[in-house]
Amino acid sequence: MIAIGSDHGGYALKEQIKKHLDELGLAYKDCGTDSDASCDYPIYGEAVARAVADGEAERGIVICGTGIGISISANKVKGIRAALCGDCYSAEYTRRHNDANVLALGARVLGEGLAEKIVDTFLSTEFEGGRHARRVALIAELEERERQ
Ligand code: RB5
Repeated sequence: MIAIGSDHGGYALKEQIKKHLDELGLAYKDCGTDSDASCDYPIYGEAVARAVADGEAERGIVICGTGIGISISANKVKGIRAALCGDCYSAEYTRRHNDANVLALGARVLGEGLAEKIVDTFLSTEFEGGRHARRVALIAELEERERQ
């Protein structure tokens, strides 16, 4: 299951990515928004992040105009490693090295074709583990210390 959400700036791309997921036969939960009416990206970043953090979804996709505000928001939820990607290399390596569980996209930055390729790369790449698992564990420790 993939959780997907956007603000108004990412709404059109979210609908396009949903069609792409349909074509791939991948199940998703649409966490909103439901139109291109102006709304607040932290609400949708949190909704997707919670679905992933709670185990309802294995991965998340968040989209706003730049991808920045919604990725910052998603990263505030414990256990979330949201990565803003504007190219396939970053999408591959944030899975291989960071075990990123949420992909953030900037709808006003990316073309539709590139956005789909980034999604494909993110969803098909596995975490390498090894020395990278130690580093991801350090991120979790940092998160715990900040919450105390
Ligand atoms: C909305 O206009 C815009 O600020 C939002 O989509 C996003 O780019 C914020 O980071």
